[in-house]
Amino acid sequence: TGHFTFDPGFGATASTKSAITYIDGDQGVLLYRGYPIEQLAEKSSFLEVAYLLLHGELPKKDEFAAFEHQITHHTMMHESLKNFFQGFHHDAHPMAMLAAAVASLSAFYHDDLNVDDPEDRKLAAIRLIAKMPTIAAACYRYSIGWPFRYPRNNLEYVSRFLHMMFEVPSEPLQLNPVAAKALDLLFILHADHEQNASTSTVRLVGSTGANPYASIAAGITALWGPAHGGANEAVLKMLEEIGTPDQVEKAVLRAKDKNDNFRLMGFGHRVYKNFDPRAKIIREMTHKVLGELGVNDPLLEVAVKLEEAALKDDYFVERKLYPNVDFYSGIIYKALNIPTEMFTVMFAIARTAGWIAHWIEQHETPGSRIGRPRQLYVGSGVRDYVPADKR
Ligand code: CMC
Repeated sequence: TGHFTFDPGFGATASTKSAITYIDGDQGVLLYRGYPIEQLAEKSSFLEVAYLLLHGELPKKDEFAAFEHQITHHTMMHESLKNFFQGFHHDAHPMAMLAAAVASLSAFYHDDLNVDDPEDRKLAAIRLIAKMPTIAAACYRYSIGWPFRYPRNNLEYVSRFLHMMFEVPSEPLQLNPVAAKALDLLFILHADHEQNASTSTVRLVGSTGANPYASIAAGITALWGPAHGGANEAVLKMLEEIGTPDQVEKAVLRAKDKNDNFRLMGFGHRVYKNFDPRAKIIREMTHKVLGELGVNDPLLEVAVKLEEAALKDDYFVERKLYPNVDFYSGIIYKALNIPTEMFTVMFAIARTAGWIAHWIEQHETPGSRIGRPRQLYVGSGVRDYVPADKR
């Protein structure tokens, strides 16, 4: 026994002070460095948001140009890193490859990195934000047996990524500006979300003094689970399983059944008990993007029906369960031809900006201590060892 507060799932424990992101779960408010997510979604870009998260202020023109220049000139993946991919079976999950490849960045950039030096920390942040799309695209291309593409540094961040994903030799890729804009917006919405499971993981690992690549790799593995970032993949699989709008009622019944561990994926949130402001933006955007791309996806109708059915059902109303950021994002990714298994990788690219901003904030905060939760011990009292033949 001990004299500790019992708080499973950390629902009532603030593990840190932070000046990066603010959430009011009752009002459905999300601010990055004080700026409402709605305004950033409408007016900013992912790279500008990444700068904001890292530096605390929106960049002036020349500051942004310098930041973009730095990001652009760290986009290459070390040639030796490519060999890591060859070790994976062709159908390895891209999240497995991503986590391993990012962890292995430590082996390339660790020796000369001093986590106590602000310049070194900044360089690690630049490297991670710059290389993540290159590594992510490599995960996809390896899985379909295509050769890797080098980053085209004359393109912008998101277009460069789409190029590395889809370009085929000798066939110039016609990038659709609607697709690039949609992906940029999704990246903005996913860039940070204060002390969620993956960010808390990054901070816990970071608190030991581990290098930033190891810390972010740990965040990636925490993101993977279906209760967290893996939900976007799970939502699409669920919608496909439901299949047609007339099967929606059955799915809602199953989600309410306590003897069935089926949950409505993309529904519910630990903090948002009114609505998820990101889901509101994405819902609107889904209709717009599919319209502009001329995509007619029957799953959208299933999703709309499912949302309607759940929102008027007492079970969901009483528990304040609303669609979250992952409910509609998958339908947009699908419309952009991004395969389902890559959805959580998309989330990881965007969240890298937030993770590394938190890692830096942690190292800038004087008196940061190693994270070390306590427990309430409920096991056996002291007892004597019994030899094997006497048990
Ligand atoms: N479908 C059906 N019932 C649900 C759901 C759901 N999606 N979510 C919560 N509930 C029920 C739950 O069974 C419990 O009921 P009762 O009080 O009768 O036992 C009640 O609502 C409270 O749920 P909880 O599990 O205590 O809530 P939590 O804060 O621990 O979990 C959550 C939050 C997001 C993990 C959970 O709502 C969930 O599993 N949702 C589905 C997965 C998902 O969409 N995750 C993405 C979250 S947002 C983006 C991200 O973080 O990456």
